[in-house]
Amino acid sequence: MSKVLVTGGTGYIGSHTVVELINEGFEVVIVDNLSNSNVEVLNGIEKITGVRPAFENIDCVDYVAMDNMIDKYGNIDAVIHFAASKAVGESVEKPLLYYRNNLVSLINLLQLMPVHKIKHFVFSSSCTVYGQPDILPVTENAPIKPALSPYGNTKQIGEEIIRDTIYANTNNYQSIILRYFNPIGAHVSAEIGELPNGVPNNLLPFVTQTAIGIRKQLQVFGNDYDTPDGSCIRDYIHVVDLAKAHVVAVRRMLEGKSKDSLEVFNLGTGRGLSVLEIIKTFEEVNQVKVPYKIVNRREGDIEKVWADPTYANEVLGWKAQETVEETLRSAWAWELNLANRKN
Ligand code: UFG
Repeated sequence: MSKVLVTGGTGYIGSHTVVELINEGFEVVIVDNLSNSNVEVLNGIEKITGVRPAFENIDCVDYVAMDNMIDKYGNIDAVIHFAASKAVGESVEKPLLYYRNNLVSLINLLQLMPVHKIKHFVFSSSCTVYGQPDILPVTENAPIKPALSPYGNTKQIGEEIIRDTIYANTNNYQSIILRYFNPIGAHVSAEIGELPNGVPNNLLPFVTQTAIGIRKQLQVFGNDYDTPDGSCIRDYIHVVDLAKAHVVAVRRMLEGKSKDSLEVFNLGTGRGLSVLEIIKTFEEVNQVKVPYKIVNRREGDIEKVWADPTYANEVLGWKAQETVEETLRSAWAWELNLANRKN
């Protein structure tokens, strides 16, 4: 049984990936400092899979603790590195926190891999590296645009650090960089899902929290963009589809199928949806109202971006399967489940 170290494994995308890894027969070790997640996520993973993965409350920035932890588990075949700070606005206020958390943890892992003879590395990157693309849908070959926030910059620099390390070729590493578009939704069981701390920054948690009454009103950031209805367009992908791509990526490296020691894939659906379309579809499929008002544009927002996922579809052999309707149903089922737990 191959063993995968998943940093940030109790987080939103991490927890869904852990479920898919376990379902596909991998042994998982989770490392997470719980800075933006809850240890109870492990109960959800166990309920779904029947397996409680090993868990270590460690900050990836702590090299010695990471070194000892990897020693303890031994024989790790691959690392999936999710652990990172991800709030765009916070990163503008606290840039050093972001550079430290996101880059030191990455460097630590890349340094520890040869020490422990780990060769395979999957990195969570983001379509944020494309900025506002000149051509849509955006392919992996589109130019990298200057980052609009320290958070975005950590993803760009992270990719460069991996590229330089791979091409130095001293340790026989292999890596797959996955550029996520906008993951939404939750596992079909509604046992795990997105659990933002405090007021959500992202659209979907704000939509579900407004629908259930935790928030009074959703603010739609701008309706004067150059899009059909004036609101911004994104490529919203079911988090379970995204999670499955990680399993495919790990397998690809373990089975020696990579074409290059470094590969980069877009993970999106290829379909762009506006903020207003998301709200309308959410209301329709869940038969619930989402009170909203149009407000000013949010600083730093990209007008429109959606993926060309052809390369991932053809080369990785992975394709997003879920409809947006099903995805929005799952997001609502998760919010309802959270409310039941509190009562
Ligand atoms: N939006 C609203 N109201 C809200 C929240 C969001 O109208 O309360 C709008 C935004 O303006 C944007 C869209 O909904 O048009 C999506 O916003 P999100 O914050 O959910 O997602 P972003 O595309 O802005 O950012 C996300 C991640 C980032 C990542 C980026 C690109 O949050 O971490 O995708 O990968 F960098």
